[in-house]
Amino acid sequence: MRLHGKSVLITGAARGLGRAAAVACAAEGADLTLLDICADLPGVPYPLGTVGQLEHTAALCRDAGAAVLTAAADIRDTRGMREAVTRAEDRFGRIDVAVNNAGIAAPSGKPVHEIEEDEWSLMIDVDLSGAWRLIREVGGAMSARRAGSIVNVASTAGLVGYRHFAGYVAAKHAVVGLTKAAALDFAPTKVRVNAVCPGSVRDDAWAEGRMLAEIARALEVPVHEHEKTFVEAQPMNALIEPEDVAAAIVFLASDESRQITGSVLTVDGGFSIR
Ligand SMILES: NC(=O)c1ccc[n+]([C@@H]2O[C@H](COP(=O)([O-])OP(=O)(O)OC[C@H]3O[C@@H](n4cnc5c(N)ncnc54)[C@H](O)[C@@H]3O)[C@@H](O)[C@H]2O)c1
Repeated sequence: MRLHGKSVLITGAARGLGRAAAVACAAEGADLTLLDICADLPGVPYPLGTVGQLEHTAALCRDAGAAVLTAAADIRDTRGMREAVTRAEDRFGRIDVAVNNAGIAAPSGKPVHEIEEDEWSLMIDVDLSGAWRLIREVGGAMSARRAGSIVNVASTAGLVGYRHFAGYVAAKHAVVGLTKAAALDFAPTKVRVNAVCPGSVRDDAWAEGRMLAEIARALEVPVHEHEKTFVEAQPMNALIEPEDVAAAIVFLASDESRQITGSVLTVDGGFSIR
């Protein structure tokens, strides 16, 4: 029970890595605030999480023994984020751990000079600024308590380039930079900020993740071939499982990592070492 008594807020918790992280945190004794947009976003060419999916994640966490609060909020919306954080603090007394997981993989699939202004802005607003907004909302109280852990879910796209993914790559590189800068700002008050960089994660039916399929679609890799393509790209020749990423998040959330801040933990089967 490495998170016993901790209050953990996770964004993008309706499905995918957010769901896997939520259930793993619940199994380690955490109480949870699960936040998701629960709506589609104009400009994102695939469906996002739903209220039903968020409630399903909540039910799985309650089955694991957690007290759970759900919040439908868009990480682009400061007021909505502030309300969700306030509700979490009212319910659980504080937020010990904030996991910046929500993200979009598209609009993508174009060379950099063909990206439209609104496509670029959307990607940066969700994948970069969304993480900064939550850090801003929780950072003051964490600093005042001289305790807290923030985990940012970046990507191998935060470490290397990918063709026709300039917006996503730029946003995820910036999340890594944000992690390091925020870690320095908070270090005197013992609040830790770390990043996890997953490689290609399997679109697990249980977690209902769909990012790999959407990346394949954006790269025009036939969806039925995409697993093979991504498996071959990772030196350990396996897709990452959502549980592998969740385990890294639990470690960085827990006091086991109390001397670790500003670090970038890859969960990529060796992809980024060559
Ligand atoms: N799946 C992978 O292969 C992979 C690899 C590396 C990094 N990542 C990162 O992991 C994170 C989770 O990805 P996933 O694979 O679970 O994707 P997913 O699309 O299955 O789930 C993402 C969740 O985030 C939510 N979301 C999106 N925009 C939001 C917004 N503006 N406000 C609130 N919620 C919003 C969606 O509704 C959805 O429930 C993302 O940051 C992604 O970039 C994923």
